[in-house]
Amino acid sequence: MSVLGSVLIDGVPVAAEDASISVFDIGFQRGYGCFEAMRSYDGSIFRLEPHLDRLELSATKLRLPTPDRDSIASWCRSIAETAGESVVRVFVSGGTDARAPGTDSHVVVFAEAVRPGAPNLTVQTRIAPWHTDGDWSELTGAKALSYGFNLAASVAAQDDGFGDALLVGRHGHVLEGPTFSIGWISEGVFHTPGLEIGILESITRTAVIEVAGRLGMTVREGIYGVDDVMNADEVFAMSTVREVLPIVHVDDREFGSGVGTKSLQDGFTSLVDEELRR
Ligand SMILES: Cc1ncc(COP(=O)(O)O)c(C=O)c1O
Repeated sequence: MSVLGSVLIDGVPVAAEDASISVFDIGFQRGYGCFEAMRSYDGSIFRLEPHLDRLELSATKLRLPTPDRDSIASWCRSIAETAGESVVRVFVSGGTDARAPGTDSHVVVFAEAVRPGAPNLTVQTRIAPWHTDGDWSELTGAKALSYGFNLAASVAAQDDGFGDALLVGRHGHVLEGPTFSIGWISEGVFHTPGLEIGILESITRTAVIEVAGRLGMTVREGIYGVDDVMNADEVFAMSTVREVLPIVHVDDREFGSGVGTKSLQDGFTSLVDEELRR
């Protein structure tokens, strides 16, 4: 990971090589805590407020004291301004007492260089039995630190020669990628799994739905199976880091990176430019 500048720990700048928190923190020991990844374009963060809303929601679901919003916002802005083009990451650790989450908890903010990515992605469908797939758990919808299962799915898909995984719930529903939302276009209609399936409320997905609306595209959010994706004309990933990225293979089914995806990519870039007045 390439960290740009210093790391803020509870707002205090620390050199990246010296940045640390306790090994007794349940963020480290049990993946208990929450985080956000935001995109800074030339030093301005896209949709900072929705990211802070989601961080608060995650903290509430984890029953951690709500981190001070104004302080976190100003730490994120100052890190973004210094780093410029980057991914700004915020972590709220669970603290050092599993019986009282939030005890000695820390907020860590830093910026990471944007890695030049591939122009498209290949994915392997993988069953995600740990996902609630429409049922509910305490942490459904939270961006909690415990991403081990998701990461393991990515690593396994990469071992099988794919760029990443596409998670499918134990009831057979298409969910999301380990770190991205999924969408596809069938006969001009934009489809994406609905939030009721228990996926993360992706900020990029919300923005792309807005873009599709502006383009006059019909948008359907619902419950879908793998066949719905396989029968689509175009498929794409959506996330803060990947923005809108064409998916050119789902298992052995090949897709072209079509005009619908291109118009969503262009529309997303215009939306960012407009909101950040670039
Ligand atoms: C599981 C999951 N789904 C979707 C996303 C995309 O969310 P966003 O657009 O807010 O980056 C992420 C981002 O990390 C994720 O981890």
